[in-house]
Amino acid sequence: MTDRIQTRVLTVDPAVPEPQIIAEAAAVIRAGGLVAFPTETVYGLGASALDEQAVARIFHAKERPATDPIIAHIADLCQLDVLARDVPPAAHALARRFWPGPLTLVVLRRPIVPANLSAGRATVAVRMPAHPVALALIAASGVPIAAPSANRFSRPSPTTAAHVLDDLNGRIDLVLDGGATHIGVESSVVDLTVDPPVLLRPGGVTITALREVLPELTFAPRYLAGDEEALPAPGMLLRHYAPNATLTVVAGDHAAALERIRAEAQAAINAGLRVGVLAFDEDAPALADLPVRIVQLGPAANPEVVAQRLFAALRAIEQTGVDLILARDPGQEGLSLTIRDRLVRAAEGRIIVAGQ
Ligand code: TXA
Ligand code: MG
Repeated sequence: MTDRIQTRVLTVDPAVPEPQIIAEAAAVIRAGGLVAFPTETVYGLGASALDEQAVARIFHAKERPATDPIIAHIADLCQLDVLARDVPPAAHALARRFWPGPLTLVVLRRPIVPANLSAGRATVAVRMPAHPVALALIAASGVPIAAPSANRFSRPSPTTAAHVLDDLNGRIDLVLDGGATHIGVESSVVDLTVDPPVLLRPGGVTITALREVLPELTFAPRYLAGDEEALPAPGMLLRHYAPNATLTVVAGDHAAALERIRAEAQAAINAGLRVGVLAFDEDAPALADLPVRIVQLGPAANPEVVAQRLFAALRAIEQTGVDLILARDPGQEGLSLTIRDRLVRAAEGRIIVAGQ
């Protein structure tokens, strides 16, 4: 456990951040402290990326394994060359198209990058976020900002300041409350240090959009249970987003999957369990006659809305105290691939296919 510290909360205008608030937060960063701040994806837990002790505090506050490296956030393309060497042309092409935005690039690191930020690897992950508060904070701090998602390890990523406080109150110095984040799922992570480049984590930029710039990009989701240390690549840990209840993803065609969700729910209810469903809007009426908690994700056909609500929905449904959560497979089209990835991780790989 960490010693409790006073966590202050400052409200900030997400569109036009007040300079005095940003200056106050930047002073905390420069002094080696921890500041949670909104990005366009999720809230980040920030510290100076060039200060090994400050980075160590991030690991401590989150209870994150030291083997899982952290993304450095920049506000200016010049900062990429401060952190990285031998930056390949593909990085510049991707940056031109997607930065600022929900894309993280893994490149070779310079010695200035503290070893703990990179978890001892020869690489560093870099992202320029598309959020006025994040960009202003990095600029005012004068250093790149190391920031994992501002949740405790293995909790869903926070999309509001309240989620940050739920997990980290008393463990960090400051939260900048800039309202709910609008993308809602984390950045896509592309490793450019291997040939061909690999999408390590699907995120806010779709694989289709990435391949318009990087046609050779590969993606082979590997969901591994067990010790992060044993993993071939960081961030593959299956339990990464696990809620407190057991979650099961139900795949198959729409009608069959919905019927299977009803059957699984009924069986669990008969066994005395409390059941929740993370339901697409169009599925909710078909579940209304069952004694289940329903949290709606938005229309299945609108993955942008579903992504924005996903982590809040996971937190909300587990707070109802259910034992089992069921969710229908969103498919793999566009941003749905990212939503599916987060659901499957939260489910620790439990997918059942209706009709099988
Ligand atoms: O949208 C986001 O990316 C958010 C916001 C705050 O920017 N950040 C975020 O950070 O999701 P985090 O730490 O929760 O996830 C970062 C992912 C992890 O899967 C980590 O293993 C991977 O990026 N990563 C970081 N550095 C890496 C490196 N050098 N090589 C490979 N993967 C790396
Ligand atoms: Mg995270």
